[in-house]
Amino acid sequence: MATTKPRASSTPATVKVTAAKGRPMLTWVGKRPLTQVTAFPAQHVETFDPTGELEKPRTEEVWSDWPPGYPQGGLLFHGDNKEVLAHLLANGFRGKVNLIYIDPPFDSGADYVRRVSLRGATGTAKLDGEGYTLGEQIQYTDIWANDNYLQFMYERLLLLKELLAETGTIYLHCDSNRNYLLRALLDEAFGTTNFLSEIAWRRSDSHNDARRFGVVHDTILVYSKGDNPAFNRLFVPLSKKTRETWYRHREPQSGRRYNLGNLVSPHPRPNLMYEWNGIQPPAMGWRISKQRMEALDQAGLLMVVGKGSNQTLKVKQYLDESKGRLLTTWWDDISQIRGYGTGAEAPDFPTRKPEGLLRRIIEASSDPGDTVLDCFIGSGTTAAVAQKLGRRWIGCDINKGAAQTTGKRLQQVIEEQIAAGAQTSLGTGEGDRLDPSQLSFTTWRVNDYDLAIQHNEAVNLACEHIGVQRMRTDPYFDGTLGANLVKIVPFDHPLSPVDLEDLKRELDSRPEEDRSVTLVCLGIEMAARTWVEDWNRLRRGKNAVNRVEVIELRSDPKYGKFLRHEPARARLAVARRDGKLVVDIEDFVSPTIVERLAQQTGVVRPKIEDWRAMVDSVMIDTSYDGQVFNVALSDVPERKQDLVSGRYELPAPRGKTTVAVKITDMLGEEVIETFGV
Ligand SMILES: C[S@@+](CC[C@H](N)C(=O)[O-])C[C@H]1O[C@@H](n2cnc3c(N)ncnc32)[C@H](O)[C@@H]1O
Repeated sequence: MATTKPRASSTPATVKVTAAKGRPMLTWVGKRPLTQVTAFPAQHVETFDPTGELEKPRTEEVWSDWPPGYPQGGLLFHGDNKEVLAHLLANGFRGKVNLIYIDPPFDSGADYVRRVSLRGATGTAKLDGEGYTLGEQIQYTDIWANDNYLQFMYERLLLLKELLAETGTIYLHCDSNRNYLLRALLDEAFGTTNFLSEIAWRRSDSHNDARRFGVVHDTILVYSKGDNPAFNRLFVPLSKKTRETWYRHREPQSGRRYNLGNLVSPHPRPNLMYEWNGIQPPAMGWRISKQRMEALDQAGLLMVVGKGSNQTLKVKQYLDESKGRLLTTWWDDISQIRGYGTGAEAPDFPTRKPEGLLRRIIEASSDPGDTVLDCFIGSGTTAAVAQKLGRRWIGCDINKGAAQTTGKRLQQVIEEQIAAGAQTSLGTGEGDRLDPSQLSFTTWRVNDYDLAIQHNEAVNLACEHIGVQRMRTDPYFDGTLGANLVKIVPFDHPLSPVDLEDLKRELDSRPEEDRSVTLVCLGIEMAARTWVEDWNRLRRGKNAVNRVEVIELRSDPKYGKFLRHEPARARLAVARRDGKLVVDIEDFVSPTIVERLAQQTGVVRPKIEDWRAMVDSVMIDTSYDGQVFNVALSDVPERKQDLVSGRYELPAPRGKTTVAVKITDMLGEEVIETFGV
């Protein structure tokens, strides 16, 4: 198994960002230019390289532009894309990306959720005879105050522009709520002259809306980096009506359908005013040269139609030779993924886009071997299609569940390609076969986002626990509790006077605000207690404004004993037997899953009859170096009703080795157990 050492890392560096092109210019409260960003090192966390290709340096010309710090395979990053893009810029990817597709949060006012369910057929995971779904795990919050959202997108667009090659193109997928603003941002970042298309993708046939027209389409805005973007013209099949009415003639001998194409020029063409076999040229002239006319004649494709002075020439065009209709900006032939079914396009991710949509974009604006980037990768559609179409790819997501879903999906795609006998030859292949550019990928983390995610989840749970009404638009307060405003103090430190001074400043800036404030915290410093007492002493009586109350989540008499996280646990045995490594998972339990199920179902405690229902995937590294997990075996059942096996036999490496087994549960929590054998 390949053991790729972490290479693409550097100490923090400052990356310069070119100014936006500038006109027209959108403005918003708190608009800040982005002239430079700090790039952090990336931490290499996982390698998927079933054929061992990362061991050998690639000699193909196309890999010569690949920054030497990265393994020559797909790259999947877990982190905030601002930092990931800065990292890529600082590490050799400036101007190297041929195509960018992004499908950022839509500012739609909805919380997207990932539906997580137990594995196994109904009956394996049973609650009094019923199958059940785990509590919905918040994937990411799509709620933004307008100005924050614009600043967020502005910064990402400026960084993405730096990564694009001169001939590169960016596709930004958005809906009707914000498309006009995003177009203005793109104009500002890329320049109005680099606007290429506004594609309308009809994602559904109908949409019920009592008060307005149902919105059935998304908008995809397309901009180029430079004046000469790479572009492949695409064709779509002709409609039945066109086939029947346009190709209405049929050759008696062969039965082939054809139409009679026009040979008259749409514009006056004095140089093409020639007579042909006694037929006078039309007033506007012919649209082709005399030689071309001769060639058509010899091929038997020229037809004389009409009589007398109305006689003219037409060209025979066969239906079976037609490439179809040139693709326009109206895309109504790719349907949205519907429902929560099973199969390759099963949407375990709510905003997952259809592969057909990405196929079209990737084929139009890149060639095999090119580099495609999506820094809002979600469930991995862009990377999966790029992999299938022989492109190189880079993906990124801030959400761990999304990064894991993408990783799993790419493993499956690559395994299928290997099973089909694919060779890595940069998308060339033979005949109809398009070989992949790579059969491996590595996973990286820029900064440690697990903590941030855990923090967000903890905040959500705490708010639920206390009954806080969340407010998504206030830049400072997180919600309300009764008549009070609520501020959640970050859980990575106890409430301190610094937090309280912050609160004071905020209240000073809101002279009209008379509500009291509830601070929710985990731990409280002595000095903070005194501060609060002093503050409230000055605010006594019925009409006192801005009193401060504190809920300390561990000790509060009403809300205490809140945070108990019991990590998932596994019991397993690993041994050498007859030259093989035998891994046996005997048991696994995730107290969080059990707890969530219990919360959801009330008094009845759930009975999970097979531990495997709680397990999403198992991965094994047979020579674990303590840092980077190299996947020697992965067990990720494709269908939700299938369970992991739990017992594995693998080739045993020679000599003493450390075997690591990574078990990921249905909420994305990982347990890694290591064994020296
Ligand atoms: C609409 S979804 C993308 C869906 C994707 N096109 C697909 O087919 O699955 C947007 C994704 O952007 C991610 N995201 C939001 N903010 C991000 C950030 N700052 N950095 C990286 N990813 C982010 C979310 O976690 C989410 O997975």
